[in-house]
Amino acid sequence: MNILQIHSSARAIGSHSSRLAARIVERLRAAHPDARIALRDLGKTPHPALDEAALQALFTPDGQRTPEQAARVALDDALIAEIQVANVIVLGVPMYNFGVPAQLKNWIDAIARAGVTFRYTDRGPQGLLQGKKVLVALARGGTYRGTSADTQVPYLQTVFGFLGMTDLQFFYAEGLAMGPDAERAGLAAAEAQIDDTVVA
Ligand SMILES: Cc1cc2nc3c(=O)[nH]c(=O)nc-3n(C[C@H](O)[C@H](O)[C@H](O)COP(=O)(O)O)c2cc1C
Repeated sequence: MNILQIHSSARAIGSHSSRLAARIVERLRAAHPDARIALRDLGKTPHPALDEAALQALFTPDGQRTPEQAARVALDDALIAEIQVANVIVLGVPMYNFGVPAQLKNWIDAIARAGVTFRYTDRGPQGLLQGKKVLVALARGGTYRGTSADTQVPYLQTVFGFLGMTDLQFFYAEGLAMGPDAERAGLAAAEAQIDDTVVA
C-alpha cells in the first residue's frame, strides 16, 4: 500500500490538521506495517502558483520547451507521479478564510492535467485517478460542518471526484478558536472519529 500524506497548513509547528493527518497515517501504518508513506508538506515546501509562465510551459509541447519551461512542468509532473502511485491519500486541511489554503489549491492546480489525470470523452469528463481512497482531516476555528459556509467539503468532493476519486472521508476538528473548552472538545471529537473509523 502506498500512502500519500499531504499537509497544507502554513504552520510548521502546532498545526492541528497536520497532526490529525499524521494520526490517520499512524492508524493506517499500524494496520499495514509494510505501507510506503510519502509526505508532502506544502507549507514547508510550497508549490508555485499557476501563473502566466506556468501556463505557457504547460501548453508548450514536450520537446519544444525551454529549459525553464521544462523545469516548471517537471515540478507538476512530480506531484502527479506521487498521486498516481498512491492507493490512499491523507490530507491535513485548515480552513483559511472559508476556503482551502492557497498551497493546497496550488497542489490541486498541479495535479489536474487534461489527458493525464482527467480527460473529456463524448460522454463528458472522465477522472483518471481511480481506485483511491481519500481521508481528509479538517481544522477550523469555527463550526461549519453541514452548513453552506463549509465550502471546503463540497469543493474537495467535486474536484477529487472530477479526477476520479469518489471515495472521500472527512474528519472534523471544529471550534478550535472558540475557547479552551471548545478547542479541547473539537480536537477530541476529531481524534475519536479517526480512532473509531480508521482501521488499526
Ligand atoms: C489566515 C487564517 C484564516 C483563517 N480563516 C478561518 C475561517 O475562515 N474559518 C474558520 O473557522 N477558521 C479560520 N481560521 C482558523 C484556522 O482554521 C484554525 O486555526 C486551524 O486550526 C488552522 O489549521 P492548523 O491548526 O492545521 O494550522 C483561520 C486561521 C488563519 C491563520
